[in-house]
Amino acid sequence: MKPQDILHQKLAKAHLGGGQSRIEKQHAKGKLTARERVHILLDAGSFEEIGALVTHRTTDFGMQEQVFYGDGVITGYGTVNGRLVYVYAQDFTVFGGSLSETHAEKICKVMDMAVKVGAPLLGLNDSGGARIQEGVRSLGGYADIFYRNVQASGVIPQLSAIMGPCAGGAVYSPAMTDFTIMVENTSYMFVTGPNVVKTVTNEEVTSEELGGASTHSTKSGVTHLTAANDVDCLNKLKTLLSYLPQNCEEKPVALPYELGTEVREQLEGLVPESANQPYDMRTVINGIIDEDTFFEIHENYADNIVVGFARLAGRSIGIVANQPMSLAGVLDVESSKKAARFTRTCDCFNVPLLVLVDVPGFLPGTDQEWNAIITNGAKLLYALSEATVPRITVITRKAYGGAYDVMNSKHIGADMNFAWPTAEIAVMGAKGASEIIFRREIMAADDPTAKLAEKEAEYAKTFANPYRAAQRGFIDEVILPKDTRRKLIKAYGMLEDKVVKGPRRKHGNIPL
Ligand code: HXC
Repeated sequence: MKPQDILHQKLAKAHLGGGQSRIEKQHAKGKLTARERVHILLDAGSFEEIGALVTHRTTDFGMQEQVFYGDGVITGYGTVNGRLVYVYAQDFTVFGGSLSETHAEKICKVMDMAVKVGAPLLGLNDSGGARIQEGVRSLGGYADIFYRNVQASGVIPQLSAIMGPCAGGAVYSPAMTDFTIMVENTSYMFVTGPNVVKTVTNEEVTSEELGGASTHSTKSGVTHLTAANDVDCLNKLKTLLSYLPQNCEEKPVALPYELGTEVREQLEGLVPESANQPYDMRTVINGIIDEDTFFEIHENYADNIVVGFARLAGRSIGIVANQPMSLAGVLDVESSKKAARFTRTCDCFNVPLLVLVDVPGFLPGTDQEWNAIITNGAKLLYALSEATVPRITVITRKAYGGAYDVMNSKHIGADMNFAWPTAEIAVMGAKGASEIIFRREIMAADDPTAKLAEKEAEYAKTFANPYRAAQRGFIDEVILPKDTRRKLIKAYGMLEDKVVKGPRRKHGNIPL
């Protein structure tokens, strides 16, 4: 057998994780191998591997006897739907995918290339964390990756898939990328695992409860997306990429679209007569956008606000929308953080924003105040104020109080502000307002209840409409719901070449 054949045989073995049983072990856990994942993720035949012959340099603990080509991570480049991407996929079948110095060097190499060339980086994480046999060298390797995550932030899209364990400080690389997606039942993320938790806090918790996909998609919001299995995860990564550009200098790819009438009758009558009756903002979103293009982010976290990507006449847009179905669409700590983060992600990558407003205000209460609704609400206010992408607002119903200002009002730099005839733009709802400003009159009345109702009606007639705001130019146009899509397509077209030059500064200081 020729030397290169022996090498290829060894390589094939290493690629397959050092032996059939290891692959079977991986499959038995419901997971694909790293190489299978790369092949599903990338266009057929497009993958080019970099560093397949790299091996670790450790000699402690007899490690020189255990050498696997590639050292537990597959790195390289290829295409997704014809667009260049860089990828790394940790191979759990080699030392549990643990991160050695050389494993980290391989990841850093593709990260550096991705930034130089200006193409997205996709990280498929499946690792037992720092390679224990390497001590501080593996910790240093993690820090080298973290540093590059920050340097690349806002330059190229960085997407992290969690497809197995991700524990300890290792979680901080995904946390600093733009999006994280976790596979249900086979992945988890935590800073300290169940054993340490038990020792320190005496809490009994499983890995799944502590840091599984369900926990991070509902309770913590650490993951933006979840997937039923590996294939679903890789497909969702591809879909997500389709809404993003290659880098911050480019716009997302627009799909071909031929304009029709663009009138959408189904949007009429969606807002109920009663201001207290909920309706699903997703129905409004789906009535406006191109069919079946809504890709929701953080779907099960802070569901009083809905965020996600969609297409409008083929163009990628980012949507931030109050959800009257949950907590009446109120802004609270979690929803403010969720919407702020999404807004900034869209702004980084030139995705125009659409803000749909039906908000009764900020949620009152000690819980909110003690958990810093002031600082967290300010995040959303700041994020929208600093966004320079085309920004359009449609007020469907309530726009009350500070939340009116925050939700992409004209005053904080929105480009076009539309309102439906059902919009109510006021300092607060009619009942609350009447109880304050007509208190004496109501108390002095023979029938205070009737007086309150009369005053409420008077207040509602004066303010519960969009026309005062339109008179001042705070609303550019009051539009019929059915015309919303048509108006938005035109307005985004008009804003296509928008340029905003901000003041000279090192960077702003968003209230974190
Ligand atoms: C070296 C490791 C390893 C590690 C796993 N392996 N983790 N080798 N360094 N960190 C090896 C195992 O020895 C085993 O080798 C193989 O990978 C598969 O591991 P198993 O334990 O058999 O798999 P499983 O039962 O699925 O359990 C997976 C696991 C467990 C839960 C991840 O392996 C585990 O707890 N590993 C240690 C996790 C950890 O504490 N890491 C350090 C975190 S701190 P063989 O040869 O038997 O197949 C950290 C700091 C980062 O990462 C700091 C950044 C700032």
